[in-house]
Amino acid sequence: MTEWTLIGHVADIPRLGSRLVETAQGLIAVFRDGQDQIFALHNRCPHRGGPLSEGIVYGGRVSCPLHNWAIDLKTGQAVAPDNGCTPSVPVHVKDGAIALCLDAPQAPACGC
Ligand code: FES
Repeated sequence: MTEWTLIGHVADIPRLGSRLVETAQGLIAVFRDGQDQIFALHNRCPHRGGPLSEGIVYGGRVSCPLHNWAIDLKTGQAVAPDNGCTPSVPVHVKDGAIALCLDAPQAPACGC
């Protein structure tokens, strides 16, 4: 059975911003886009481990603050020409409450 862990509310995260959540899996960056959709990725850029939570959110992506790779918020996949991905975490939002599935396998959704 899937277990969901409540981590806060949509309103806790600034639009086009993020919030860091400390978990047994490590730090998870939870992002809110311009349409108030919520995404969660491990807080490690697939390039050299940059803190994605400190990146700029735009157009369904976050740009890493270190070397500006663009990472797809849904899959964790780096956008070409860059290559690599970071694991994503399943997110469920109900009535503004955000829950993460932290017992999901850590394999990246993009499969790389
Ligand atoms: S560490 Fe993210 S682009 Fe280099």
